[in-house]
Amino acid sequence: MSTNNYDKIAFIYEKLSKVILGKEFVRSKDLFLQNILEDMDVWVIGGGTGAIIPEILIKNGLTGKLVYSEASQKMLQRARKRVSSKDEDRVHFYREERFHWPFASKADIVICQYLLDVLIDQQIHNFFKALEKAINPNTQLIFADFYPHSRKSLFIKAMISAFRCITNHPRKDLPDYDFFFERYGWKTQEEFQIQGGFIRVKCLVKA
Ligand SMILES: C[S@@+](CC[C@H](N)C(=O)[O-])C[C@H]1O[C@@H](n2cnc3c(N)ncnc32)[C@H](O)[C@@H]1O
Repeated sequence: MSTNNYDKIAFIYEKLSKVILGKEFVRSKDLFLQNILEDMDVWVIGGGTGAIIPEILIKNGLTGKLVYSEASQKMLQRARKRVSSKDEDRVHFYREERFHWPFASKADIVICQYLLDVLIDQQIHNFFKALEKAINPNTQLIFADFYPHSRKSLFIKAMISAFRCITNHPRKDLPDYDFFFERYGWKTQEEFQIQGGFIRVKCLVKA
């Protein structure tokens, strides 16, 4: 059974997140997209309304695939609209939450932006186990999320409470991301910290 339900807020998600979290949150999702090169196969998991799709499709050229796995039907509907007919054949949308990579060839880049914070720990374990089947030794994991921050603790609490009501958000805290990176052998290659480390965007590779 689905825990998170973003269908209800898909129509307003982008505007709402920009108002609450600001332009830096929006811009954080562009960081490391320049690592996507011609022909690369990209897997976006929990990408929401798909704002980064056009940029990915410019970067991975005419033949790179994009796999887009998203749990919310309404989010997926919005994401589909970002793809023009000339790119349709190389974009594969899946409404699913099992973290399934559908090809025998491996993903060059996996993107999870503001996804892990909405998953319970068991789902995060499942996420990292699923990645093992989808990656090659050079695959890059582009990650963005909120970290605990002393000056933001009230804001984090309020944000979590609001999302528990609106989307059935299943957590009461933020995950210990670094525990998972270490447990599954992902090493940070480069990192940006925004708002004093409240938002962290990392490019990770297998250690
Ligand atoms: C907080 S939103 C982030 C959306 C977008 N990545 C962004 O940066 O704004 C989390 C998204 O993850 C999706 N999601 C939650 N659990 C998922 C799962 N198990 N598999 C795929 N998507 C999931 C939700 O439907 C929602 O669209």
